[in-house]
Amino acid sequence: MVPALLLLSALPPVLASLAAESASGFAGSNVSAIYPPAGATITTDESYFPDAEQVGYAGPTPTGAEAEAVATAPVAALNTDAYPLVVAQTPYSGTGVPFQVIRSWGNLSPWFSVGSGEFGLPSADPQIPSGCELEQVHLLHRHGARYPTEGSAPSTFAETVQAAATGSGFSAIGPLAFLNTWTYKLGAEILTPEGRQQPFDLGIAFRVKYGQLLNGFTDLPVFRTTSQNRMVESAIHFAAGFFGVPDYQTSYHQEIIIENSGSNNTLAPWSACPNANDDVAGDLGGYASGNWTQIYLNATVPRLQQYITGLNLTVNDVYAMQQLCAYETVALGYSQFCGLFTEEEWRGFDYAIDLSFWYGNGPGNPAAAAQGIGYVQELVARLTRTPLTIFNTSTNATLDGSNITFPLNQPIYVDATHDNAMSYIITALNFTTLAANGPLPVDHIPAYQTYHVHDIAPFTSNLVAQVMSCSGSASPTEETNSAATGPAPYIRFLLNDGVVPLTGISHCETPDPNGLCLLENFIQGMQERIQEVDFVYDCYANYTPPALTEDTIIDGRMFQ
Ligand SMILES: *[C@@H]1O[C@H](CO)[C@@H](O)[C@H](O)[C@H]1NC(C)=O
Ligand SMILES: *[C@@H]1O[C@H](CO)[C@@H](O)[C@H](O)[C@H]1NC(C)=O
Ligand SMILES: *[C@@H]1O[C@H](CO)[C@@H](O)[C@H](O)[C@H]1NC(C)=O
Ligand SMILES: *[C@@H]1O[C@H](CO)[C@@H](O)[C@H](O)[C@H]1NC(C)=O
Ligand SMILES: *[C@@H]1O[C@H](CO)[C@@H](O)[C@H](O)[C@H]1NC(C)=O
Ligand SMILES: *[C@@H]1O[C@H](CO)[C@@H](O)[C@H](O)[C@H]1NC(C)=O
Ligand SMILES: *[C@@H]1O[C@H](CO)[C@@H](O)[C@H](O)[C@H]1NC(C)=O
Ligand SMILES: *[C@@H]1O[C@H](CO)[C@@H](O)[C@H](O)[C@H]1NC(C)=O
Ligand SMILES: *[C@@H]1O[C@H](CO)[C@@H](O)[C@H](O)[C@H]1NC(C)=O
Repeated sequence: MVPALLLLSALPPVLASLAAESASGFAGSNVSAIYPPAGATITTDESYFPDAEQVGYAGPTPTGAEAEAVATAPVAALNTDAYPLVVAQTPYSGTGVPFQVIRSWGNLSPWFSVGSGEFGLPSADPQIPSGCELEQVHLLHRHGARYPTEGSAPSTFAETVQAAATGSGFSAIGPLAFLNTWTYKLGAEILTPEGRQQPFDLGIAFRVKYGQLLNGFTDLPVFRTTSQNRMVESAIHFAAGFFGVPDYQTSYHQEIIIENSGSNNTLAPWSACPNANDDVAGDLGGYASGNWTQIYLNATVPRLQQYITGLNLTVNDVYAMQQLCAYETVALGYSQFCGLFTEEEWRGFDYAIDLSFWYGNGPGNPAAAAQGIGYVQELVARLTRTPLTIFNTSTNATLDGSNITFPLNQPIYVDATHDNAMSYIITALNFTTLAANGPLPVDHIPAYQTYHVHDIAPFTSNLVAQVMSCSGSASPTEETNSAATGPAPYIRFLLNDGVVPLTGISHCETPDPNGLCLLENFIQGMQERIQEVDFVYDCYANYTPPALTEDTIIDGRMFQ
């Protein structure tokens, strides 16, 4: 249950001073490796290594039946481990489930299964409820673990360290002594090795849980992603896990939607929403997390400063060190930055990311629902098997207008996306229970919080819509079910295995212990949501967003 633990505590100052030394000139410099190493002689004569077909003798190769463990197993398989990552765990002396550093990195945490109780449905389970039969599944997943954005805070911190090392020099001791010889080993943007494993594992899990639905295909499946390198590679790793290697190459069609400014792309919708990228709606997340960071790291700066001379730390440096803990861990398997921080500082970091998403990409942002609504239009088209004919949001008319690139008869839909898009889409879907504790304060962590980015958009976060047919004996509430005669189609959503209540959506208000809503009611709710979200105004109008302290937006739309 608990990932690899390593108890570290800061060295006592006396011992620490024994380790004192000066920074090397290379401290903070970039290091990267190209494989195969330069100068390697690569044998080009493939005749030494005939492939499997040429060698032959493969042995018997009969296949078995498709699995449907989401219905046949008595309990759900859950994702609780982050092998092979090792994380320095802060000392913990409380009782109950230990605080886990690796789960407090917001969108930089690996994904873990979330209990349904986290979202308010303690008795719900990812397994198909008895009396129900699975008919269709829609998966939206984030890419796997990645290197930082090019030129962002972690590399800026490395430049600061390098400038100090090559300037008048610095000297770090005790818990910071490693900085004397630390180098920056992270690339930018692309997947890390762990980031390849996550979508691959998700693909395998999806085959085991939902493979049976493949029997209902009449053509090869079309799965979608966007054009960025990490997006394409995540999608392919998912497919490699789902179909197997090398079979994935001939088992499905990979649709790659252009992600670039000016492109319509429901899986990267900001390029079709100018306000998301300018000071109308684009700054709020950074302001909110920036204000909070000044507060929660205020005492951390002097605490760490006592271990380093010749380099004056700022709040931004220390925030970058927390990010480096997460990025180095998911890239290199371990990071010495992780052991520097207390549980309270990690809770502060997690909350800084909650603020960044709430105001920047979530319920508190005036252009968030508008950016997610294109995917909702696509979902309704798929659920109703009705072709899209009007393209008035981030949908691409060329792709979504064709039944080849936008088929409506698939039992399984798989779309890969980004963290912010997951948040936009969840906001557009009106999962208001996640926003139940209202606008997030920028000066303290509220005692009761329903909005956690580590549950919404961690690496390879996955949102699954299960469409199923349930008979009268199933668990749907009697009230909704009595109206139906015989089996009726229902839908529910699992966010990282946690069942999400749909009660904030019009026509799905009746609580259901399994999170189910009648499919036709859900569709009606989404059709109303599509009317309610003013894409043109929220994305294009020149309005002034509310000041942070007065931003009472809770469903991602600008007041009008
Ligand atoms: C590391 O490389 C990036 C470009 O790849 C550059 O912008 C940055 O300044 C370099 N940092 C250092 C410390 O040399
Ligand atoms: C829509 O997608 C097609 C096919 O990839 C592409 O050629 C076109 O530029 C896209 N249009 C927009 C507005 O994104
Ligand atoms: C704090 O928020 C205000 C807007 O309310 C913004 O102008 C300011 O830049 C923010 N401070 C930081 C450090 O991000
Ligand atoms: C940071 O700490 C200093 C010294 O204790 C204090 O004067 C200042 O107000 C604090 N700033 C914030 C943003 O809490
Ligand atoms: C760090 O700050 C102190 C006090 O403001 C100043 O005297 C010193 O020159 C600074 N050191 C560096 C390396 O900037
Ligand atoms: C792109 O989106 C805009 C805004 O909704 C729309 O006017 C335009 O027709 C779309 N273009 C394509 C090719 O989908
Ligand atoms: C796709 O559209 C074409 C032309 O509009 C039509 O002939 C064909 O039957 C459609 N295919 C499916 C699977 O709906
Ligand atoms: C979406 O949620 C908002 C805020 O709770 C609510 O006012 C609105 O009626 C909901 N809309 C739909 C269509 O569910
Ligand atoms: C887009 O078109 C659909 C279908 O006519 C309509 O229901 C919806 O309100 C329109 N949305 C916008 C933002 O114009």
